[in-house]
Amino acid sequence: MMLQQLIKLLALNLIWWSSINVEYAVAATRDTRVINSGCSPINATNTVSFFGNVNETFSELRGEIRNQSKHFGTSLNSRGAVNAYTMFQCRNYVSRNDCLACFNTASAQIRDICKIANGARVIYNDCFLRYESERFYQQTNEIGGGVTCGNISSNATNLKVVGQQALMDLQTATPKIKGFYAATKTQVEGGSAIYAIAQCVETASPQKCLDCMQVGYNNLQSCLPSTDGTAYDAGCFMRYSTKPFFADNQTIDIKPYLKEGGSSKKWAIIGGVVGGVVLLLVLFAWRLFIKQKRVPKADILGATELRGPVNYKYTDLKAATKNFSADNKLGEGGFGAVYKGTLKNGKVVAVKKLVLGKSSKMEDDFEGEVKLISNVHHRNLVRLLGCCSKGQERILVYEYMANSSLDKFLFGDKKGSLNWKQRYDIILGTARGLAYLHEEFHVSIIHRDIKTGNILLDDDLQPKIADFGLARLLPRDRSHLSTKFAGTLGYTAPEYAMQGQLSEKADTYSYGIVVLEIISGQKSTNVKIDDEGREYLLQRVSKLLYLSCLFSQDILLFDRA
Ligand SMILES: *[C@@H]1O[C@H](CO)[C@@H](O)[C@H](O)[C@H]1NC(C)=O
Ligand SMILES: *[C@@H]1O[C@H](CO)[C@@H](O)[C@H](O)[C@H]1NC(C)=O
Ligand SMILES: *[C@@H]1O[C@H](CO)[C@@H](O)[C@H](O)[C@H]1NC(C)=O
Ligand SMILES: *[C@@H]1O[C@H](CO)[C@@H](O)[C@H](O)[C@H]1NC(C)=O
Ligand SMILES: *[C@@H]1O[C@H](CO)[C@@H](O)[C@H](O)[C@H]1NC(C)=O
Ligand SMILES: *[C@@H]1O[C@H](CO)[C@@H](O)[C@H](O)[C@H]1NC(C)=O
Repeated sequence: MMLQQLIKLLALNLIWWSSINVEYAVAATRDTRVINSGCSPINATNTVSFFGNVNETFSELRGEIRNQSKHFGTSLNSRGAVNAYTMFQCRNYVSRNDCLACFNTASAQIRDICKIANGARVIYNDCFLRYESERFYQQTNEIGGGVTCGNISSNATNLKVVGQQALMDLQTATPKIKGFYAATKTQVEGGSAIYAIAQCVETASPQKCLDCMQVGYNNLQSCLPSTDGTAYDAGCFMRYSTKPFFADNQTIDIKPYLKEGGSSKKWAIIGGVVGGVVLLLVLFAWRLFIKQKRVPKADILGATELRGPVNYKYTDLKAATKNFSADNKLGEGGFGAVYKGTLKNGKVVAVKKLVLGKSSKMEDDFEGEVKLISNVHHRNLVRLLGCCSKGQERILVYEYMANSSLDKFLFGDKKGSLNWKQRYDIILGTARGLAYLHEEFHVSIIHRDIKTGNILLDDDLQPKIADFGLARLLPRDRSHLSTKFAGTLGYTAPEYAMQGQLSEKADTYSYGIVVLEIISGQKSTNVKIDDEGREYLLQRVSKLLYLSCLFSQDILLFDRA
């Protein structure tokens, strides 16, 4: 019970930064584009005291860069009512003067970005700067993290394979290197090369650095075969490019850190796994202990720590959606209606009013489940921003996708507008998102309702799977055998529909149907009437498969895109 209250308190107080991506085209010799920036949504309680302290920390850090050529530093100023904690880091390849220039740009822009918030960050390719009113130096993976990818290379195949290996090596080596920084150049067949760096904040532990690198690697490798990509998080940074962004003589030999040591390797791995599991259990037990023992105050490390979903106010969401008006309604899903909302700060979100009915399981688990789901980050999954509970109402707030869902492009008003490349990318991206849910997130999440209506498309027509994890909120006795809540007609795997047997395979079946719909442009539940008579998509596919086996014909299933 204590834990429940604590989760509630955490969700209330640990609010993630609303992200703003501002393109600053400030004249300077180096790359001054802002990769990512954000403000804490909470105002400083005493701006004079706080920003006075922030200014002090800035001048101290500036002095350290100028006088001691430092590339990393933290500074605390605790005069007056509100403390200021500041952290700054340059990538190690940057010269002292460029580091200073980056710091000066950062310290000026961070003031423009966040005028009164009690926390702010700004991230560039060459450096980053962040301040908070609470200590945050050990943070690494937080909700504000993300990735930006460049253009796709025309020479893709080699780049992808070589790039993945190079990034994987950086992920492995960097946490083992003193100072947590590595830079490599890897030759790609055909003459080009991949330049890549990875860096953690020096105040992180090697384990936290590794955790951060793993998330960064996951995000960044999804950029390949783009010619460049950047993954950022609270405590680490990874970047690669086929254009040199540091000199060849600035690479670091990471081979010694990749060796595992011959025959003992297997035992090292087993030992590592067993040790890891034990360590995790101990850590988990310890955290539970700490959480239950140290009641709220000390544990709520600052309003700006980036962990946990936002707990939105009901009145704010009501205002954002114009009292859940029909005009703002985007659609109706298996779990309830979705509305477009514009928050006070101008951010556009999708607001989902859940219809789950009464259930004690939900009462108990709602915020815990929301917290879990909001920790799922992948570029092919729609991000859950936060939630709201009021009486019986349960509302979820998601990032907003302007292009709405895939079914509109296949069967709706935008029918026929996708070309083959776009269809291929959607098929691949959806598979990536699903694989992440099943295999890569620390809890395996079965979606149970994969369909074209649940695959949203972003501005670049990249797919993002929506509504994952919601089935976890259903009471156990309702979690199967009800088409309304678990699965949609035409997509549900036979063993699940008939016997309620649920595994990841049910999602894979539904995914297969989606793929067939994407390439055929025919809805799985609609009959196609041609000279041969009435036919469902699956009948058509199996007939074509049979024919193609008999006569080695090509399968003529394709949508005339
Ligand atoms: C922060 O201050 C601004 C301007 O003073 C105000 O409009 C806003 O509502 C405040 N935000 C919060 C979360 O208190
Ligand atoms: C902090 O420094 C900025 C720029 O130099 C200045 O505009 C601001 O007034 C200072 N704030 C305080 C509280 O000293
Ligand atoms: C850096 O050097 C300048 C002048 O040489 C001096 O005034 C300043 O106090 C020094 N700052 C630090 C942090 O050492
Ligand atoms: C990506 O391609 C567009 C159009 O071809 C070009 O304008 C832009 O500069 C490219 N971006 C990068 C980072 O190379
Ligand atoms: C593609 O690779 C070939 C060599 O394999 C190279 O000559 C060509 O410049 C590359 N093209 C691009 C756009 O990188
Ligand atoms: C690295 O190469 C640059 C020229 O590309 C040169 O100016 C610099 O002195 C070299 N640095 C070292 C440490 O060798």
